[in-house]
Amino acid sequence: MTGAELTMSGTVVVVRHPLVQHKLGLLRDVTTTTQMFRQLVNELTLLLTYEATKDLADEEVEIETPLERTTARRISGKKVAVCPILRAGVGMLDGVLSLVPGARVGFIGLFRDEETLEPVEYYVKLPGDIADRDVILLDPMLATGNSTAAAIEIVKRAGATSVRLIALIAAPEGIARVHRDHPEVTIVVAAVDRGLNEVGYILPGLGDAGDRLYGTK
Ligand code: URA
Repeated sequence: MTGAELTMSGTVVVVRHPLVQHKLGLLRDVTTTTQMFRQLVNELTLLLTYEATKDLADEEVEIETPLERTTARRISGKKVAVCPILRAGVGMLDGVLSLVPGARVGFIGLFRDEETLEPVEYYVKLPGDIADRDVILLDPMLATGNSTAAAIEIVKRAGATSVRLIALIAAPEGIARVHRDHPEVTIVVAAVDRGLNEVGYILPGLGDAGDRLYGTK
């Protein structure tokens, strides 16, 4: 049900599970309320996290059941740092934390300089030990990819060597942009849409994810 596609630029995993696609359809619907939208983002992120973490290293451990000793699997190695890109990425945070409750959280805030059109950092707070963690970046709409590529640059500059991205919907342009600078970053999404309109919105998309999450429009 899941398609891991090695594109020209890097790996994109499109999660085609019926639950994901059902919830994505509800999310796109213009009549979906803010409350429902937030809940769907949370549920979709949880399901995408399941896929995005499937290659975390695990190891065999010995445990005692109430009846006897046995072996079990336990996640080993690096711990996780989850980093939402402000503001809409924050709507995805609880979905990850409900599956990976021990993750540390970092926040990345970027705005677009209207003259240079380049992303500019206005707030960055990352776990001090991010170099020792698997980083999961959260950005619901991978549109032009400029701010996401900049966010990946920021976590790499802080020492991160293992970075994956969870988005709800991606445009082909955004995927190409991220993989141009960061070909090793696996992108996990519920859908890859047709493209961008003239002001950078994804088509057919779902509109402005931040506004729909927080009811600001
Ligand atoms: N950001 C959004 O919230 N929606 C888009 O379609 C593109 C960028």
